Amino acid sequence: MTSTPRTRVLTGITTTGTPHLGNYVGAIRPTVQASRDASTDGFYFLADYHALIKCDDPVRIQRSTLEIAASWIASGLDTDKVTFYRQSDIPEVPELTWFLTCVTGKGVLNRAHAYKAAVDKNNAAGHDTDADVTAGLFMYPVLMGADILMFKAHKVPVGRDQIQHIEMARDMAASFNHLYGEHFVLPEAVIEESVALLPGLDGRKMSKSYDNTIPLFAPAAQMRKQIAGIVTDSKAPGEPKATEGSALFQIYQAFASAEETAAMARAYADGIGWGDAKQMLFERIDREIAPMREQYQELVQNPAKLDQILLAGADKARQMATPFIQELRHAVGLRALSSAHASAVNKEPKLDLPSFKQYREKDGQFYFKLVDAQGQLLLQSRGFASPKEAGQTIGRLQTEGIDCLDALSALLEPTAPSLRAALAQSIENLKYSKNMNSK
Ligand code: TRP
Repeated sequence: MTSTPRTRVLTGITTTGTPHLGNYVGAIRPTVQASRDASTDGFYFLADYHALIKCDDPVRIQRSTLEIAASWIASGLDTDKVTFYRQSDIPEVPELTWFLTCVTGKGVLNRAHAYKAAVDKNNAAGHDTDADVTAGLFMYPVLMGADILMFKAHKVPVGRDQIQHIEMARDMAASFNHLYGEHFVLPEAVIEESVALLPGLDGRKMSKSYDNTIPLFAPAAQMRKQIAGIVTDSKAPGEPKATEGSALFQIYQAFASAEETAAMARAYADGIGWGDAKQMLFERIDREIAPMREQYQELVQNPAKLDQILLAGADKARQMATPFIQELRHAVGLRALSSAHASAVNKEPKLDLPSFKQYREKDGQFYFKLVDAQGQLLLQSRGFASPKEAGQTIGRLQTEGIDCLDALSALLEPTAPSLRAALAQSIENLKYSKNMNSK
């Protein structure tokens, strides 16, 4: 049986809070739907190392991990089909973080939104620039890059605020690949256009940092009460209402079909009272959530079962991560000392190779020159009667290296003394790479 390679889709959720409707609509639901597509290979994980950056309450981190794991499974994630794991069960991730740290410009991290926001805030308040900023916050994008690159993800579904991190991960991958050979896949962000940002109770983006969330699996009565607290304008029943800028309408839209949404828009125009609109919203959300609530409760009350599921997921993930980190260790030079020779043969050499350029001058003769990767002239030939003779001379330089320079001196212009070391190195590199390629 032949199969086309599946697109690897990977995303994580930071385990600092209780999953809310924004997480569900923006991440969990589209992810679960996408995971059913047989042409994708899903990697979904609990970003608990990331949680440490924002939260120093161990109980909260543990609880959040439990709740988020239960939420994904209750929302329909099939953990047999996808790879579902906890970041901290993959020791290869922090190791890769270090490798990436060493190819990431500090200036790039200075420009990361989360760090920059903290700095701007400090500056505005007249505090020390880095007051209360941990190195963890600063390094956040690198850890995230490791999450993504570890598993060669092609697509990373995220919220808009995370796009920059995916771009940084691409840059890290490209830098590493440039230095050490093609090891990483360059990932792409995927944004769910229709529902990327769900507003919260106060109309701003629903986010645990704004404390404006509606928990995904709150008991129905609590959810109804919270929905009643969504901000609206003060228009009375009977007055036409604007859907534009209405948090209530936007949340409704995220759960409703196109027809239901159109009906709600008409109800707004017809002056539906806010109380009735909130009741409709509650009913619509509950229709989707209620069937999952039971399984969620069961899972949360059975943490040992969740541990088992997560460890099985980590095993699956490490089948890929363990050999890959070995490959990367080797690539960067962390390898058995006794493997030095073998590795020199196996590794595609990453050399800034010079190149020979052949050309014909006005005098009718054939010439070549050797220029390094930066375009600097290292060696200039004298004229040859035919291109073949020029080519043969190049061939000797490539196969014999510096050893033949003296023998060929009559055919070559002398190289300035200051460039001779560079010339010798370049010719040796060429010889080396030619030998590699013919192996
Ligand atoms: N930073 C992401 C967030 O806060 C969570 C996350 C961590 C993540 N690692 C990731 C998302 C890797 C996608 C891929 O939403």
